Amino acid sequence: MSKLAVNGGKPLRDVKTNPWPKWPLWDEEEEKGLLEVLRSGVWSYNGPKELQFNKAFAKFIGAGHALSVANGTVSLQLALEACGIGLGDEVIVPGLTWQATAAAALDVNAIPVLVDVREDNWCIDPAQVEKAISPRTKAIIPVHLYGGFADMDAIMEIATRHNLRVIEDCAHKHGGEWNGKKVGSIGDAGSFSFQLSKLMTGGEGGALTTSDSQLFEKLDALRNCGRRPEIEQCGDKGAGHYGSEGDFIQSGNYRMTDFQAALLIESLKRLPEQNKLRDENAKYMNSLLAELPGVTPIRRDKRETMGAYYNFSFRYDAEQFKGVAVDKFREAMARELGCDVEASYEPLDTCPLYAPLTKPRRHKLSEEHWRQIDPARFSLPVCHRIHDAESVCLHHTILMGTKSDVDLLAKAIEKIYDNAAKLL
Ligand SMILES: Cc1ncc(COP(=O)(O)O)c(C=O)c1O
Repeated sequence: MSKLAVNGGKPLRDVKTNPWPKWPLWDEEEEKGLLEVLRSGVWSYNGPKELQFNKAFAKFIGAGHALSVANGTVSLQLALEACGIGLGDEVIVPGLTWQATAAAALDVNAIPVLVDVREDNWCIDPAQVEKAISPRTKAIIPVHLYGGFADMDAIMEIATRHNLRVIEDCAHKHGGEWNGKKVGSIGDAGSFSFQLSKLMTGGEGGALTTSDSQLFEKLDALRNCGRRPEIEQCGDKGAGHYGSEGDFIQSGNYRMTDFQAALLIESLKRLPEQNKLRDENAKYMNSLLAELPGVTPIRRDKRETMGAYYNFSFRYDAEQFKGVAVDKFREAMARELGCDVEASYEPLDTCPLYAPLTKPRRHKLSEEHWRQIDPARFSLPVCHRIHDAESVCLHHTILMGTKSDVDLLAKAIEKIYDNAAKLL
């Protein structure tokens, strides 16, 4: 039995001679696009690349409109604001997500209501959403987390029944499809992040998608200091630049640059091929995981017609690994493979980066509001089990190689299983 790398043995992969696929990917097309922007002098604000990207992205998603913004955090905030959500309204979000999903609600003075996720796919649990609905609920933000897919049929059914808005947080799922429909085209609006590690990247950046033209025009004004949509985008030749008297909008600058758009145009061209490769490798990896003891693949619903993986994740059962804690397993796996192996996000009721009560001058709008936004009032047992005991997450680049790269992931798990006693 070969010695584990974490115990001084030889790792399964020597990343010096055999590195994992790099990220981000770029070639002379990105260089050309960036130079074009540089030489054009139109570096921002509805530049030609931005308009081109918005059109291409809307077409790709299958939404009537797409709008680029500064990042995938403000996109959520703008979507809530454009839906008219504000003081005293409740927004239901999953407890297991990046803090931005809940912080967006906080930043429009709404109350983020944290609900638990399903243990089999780590996405918002529709049964918990149903339980959390109150007369003040105005919206749901399902997150398609890592490789998982929120049950959009159930979410849309609940939303329709209770007259709620649905903003899909698609930061992890560019190009994923549910029943043949792309994420970002199912709810009222889709929110995307183009931060460096994401499936499409402009370094930073974000986008909103919607087929609701009124919502789009509001979003465009909100991302641009209240200015009304450009004629070219909304086709409304009568629209004044600032709107008309009695119809002005207070907002700020949430725009992206044309340099980012130049990168994103190329990212979008590469995405379908990359998603196909990642999806094939993920399906293969899940078939291997299903045969291994002590690990469980994330459940894939039949309605997921196209997977998209920001991270490849799976569930770990310490008991079957002789009681070895999941952090030790992750460290051992990282050392065998020479790549990062991480835990899931921290549940938002205890996440140090989601701390609304550290800002009383901003968020203490009333004693009642202060109590409502306290994350500690929510109970998220499944989120905690996933984070504390089960989660194993690898960046999507590990799915961008060959089948034998995937075999190596499975071999690492087997090697750790065989040596579990030596990890105690
Ligand atoms: C689920 C989720 N939503 C929103 C965001 C925010 O995106 P950005 O980093 O572009 O602001 C992230 C970023 O990681 C995320 O993971």
